[in-house]
Amino acid sequence: MTAPQWARAHTNIALIKYWGKKDAQLMLPANDSLSLTLADFYTDTLVRFTDSIATDQFALDQQPITGQPLAKVTRVLDQVRQLAGITAPAVVTSRNHVPTAAGLASSASGMAALAAAAAQAAGLTLDHPALSRLARLGSGSATRSIDGGFVRWFAGHNDATSYAAPVPAAPPLLADIRVVAVVFSDQPKAIGSTAGMARTAATSSYFPAWTQRAAADLHRLLPALNAGDFVQVGQIAEGNALAMHAATWAADPPFTYFLPATLALVQGIQVWRQSQGVPVYATVDAGPNVKLLTRAPHVAAVQRWLAAHFPTAQVVVTQAGPGISYYPAGKEVDA
Ligand code: PMV
Repeated sequence: MTAPQWARAHTNIALIKYWGKKDAQLMLPANDSLSLTLADFYTDTLVRFTDSIATDQFALDQQPITGQPLAKVTRVLDQVRQLAGITAPAVVTSRNHVPTAAGLASSASGMAALAAAAAQAAGLTLDHPALSRLARLGSGSATRSIDGGFVRWFAGHNDATSYAAPVPAAPPLLADIRVVAVVFSDQPKAIGSTAGMARTAATSSYFPAWTQRAAADLHRLLPALNAGDFVQVGQIAEGNALAMHAATWAADPPFTYFLPATLALVQGIQVWRQSQGVPVYATVDAGPNVKLLTRAPHVAAVQRWLAAHFPTAQVVVTQAGPGISYYPAGKEVDA
């Protein structure tokens, strides 16, 4: 068996959202989704299989983790053990470099880093599609964090066909697209993404419309990425996010992740864009925070506008990031 290595995976922001499962057991999504991997937010994870402990152990930022989060880790590890023909429990050590202040979920980077580190520690040689299938068992959005740049998760119809792969994009777009995260709240949300998407899929009268919309948006987004047409990309991403949130309003009972400030920012950005022609578009995940998509030359103007209109919000800027990488254990991996 090779010496254990740290695996690093970056988090991602979806431009076409994953919202709803068609198979909760296999973690198959109702629709294909597409995201951008982010440069500045990542998780480092080291896995060591050992018979010297009775059950899997997981520490995140030096805090022991139990309960549901540990169960998700064990789900990924069980699959690795089955593939490798081993039975030993694992010691999992993770370090998050996803500041709460960024308002971005760390489950995507966390589960992708776990999949890569565990496969490596078990001596498995898995290609990226296979690693993304493994990450999928821990968290849906993690499926898209094995690769860098723009990444598409194919919904598929069974374990083998539900995986992610990079999609081509015009190099200038990839180089200068920027994500400006605007954080209003770092409180845990009342309805987590798993429960929120389950309720939407089971009860929202808009859910069938949402899945159709997501497919149509993806169909238009792929050529826009290829052509480097940022305005098209932004329009499609903003519309897709709002359509996802519309489906939550039509659930039973209805709910929303929006705070008043979320709506104020989305509307404010639309008005500013229309009046000044600044290419900036909003996307919102399962929480109140907003991620603005823009291009490098407009970041300073966006920051000034935010400081004037939302002076108390925290603002973090990032760009396209890479896929998974590995570092020898013992080597300092903190940036
Ligand atoms: O896989 P989860 O539980 O992190 O859910 C992700 C849900 C959204 O962030 C709202 C959409 C997405 O595709 O990332």
